[in-house]
Amino acid sequence: MTDKTKQKWNISDEAYLEKNGLTMEFFSLMENNALKECFALVKENMQCLYENSVLRWDEGEKWREMSMDTLRYVCLYSTERHELVGFMSFEETVEADLPCLYLYELQITMKMRRKGCGSWLMKQLLRIAERRQIPYVFLTVFGKNEQALKFYRQFHFSPHATSPQSKMFRSGKVVHPDYYILYTRV
Ligand SMILES: CC(C)(COP(=O)(O)OP(=O)(O)OC[C@H]1O[C@@H](n2cnc3c(N)ncnc32)[C@H](O)[C@@H]1OP(=O)(O)O)[C@@H](O)C(=O)NCCC(=O)NCCS
Repeated sequence: MTDKTKQKWNISDEAYLEKNGLTMEFFSLMENNALKECFALVKENMQCLYENSVLRWDEGEKWREMSMDTLRYVCLYSTERHELVGFMSFEETVEADLPCLYLYELQITMKMRRKGCGSWLMKQLLRIAERRQIPYVFLTVFGKNEQALKFYRQFHFSPHATSPQSKMFRSGKVVHPDYYILYTRV
């Protein structure tokens, strides 16, 4: 990545990457081979959750979505073997009349979870929004994705008014919707 790209997107915190033997690559237009690896990771992490939701797993549709040329990708690789350890993709857009970065994917391989990679990527996303004076970040998360819900709570995401909401029954039992639309102010 050139210094100009780093400056434009304000990508930093390289100490974390070095310490963990990671390299970051930024794609303003995703390359096919890198996209294939990201797709494989989404399939591994998410297929089951999609199959247990109203959305269902539609490979062709997912590939089309991930190929949209409005998406930017930030990928993390192991420096030694250049293996994908995680990535995020996002789009600059407007959601519910609010200018925002919409996070499409945030995916970490199983063996690299709970080591701060997800937080590192999220911090970069918030920093990009701040630098570009984009006031909100939005995302969609499955109601059954407990680990992701906990993760996003750490970053002060909460359900937007347009999001399906959880329901509390008289017994005190809480039923989550299929998905939430979460947002945070930058
Ligand atoms: C959700 C995800 C991106 C988190 O990435 P990560 O690199 O593992 O997260 P971090 O190590 O930065 O964790 C930061 C904090 O989030 C919370 N968190 C993360 N994973 C958690 C889990 N499995 N259970 C409970 N809390 C969790 C913790 O508070 C954690 O801090 P701690 O480890 O000091 O307790 C990762 O688990 C993942 O890729 N999951 C599968 C794909 C997915 O669901 N993506 C989100 C789609 S919307």
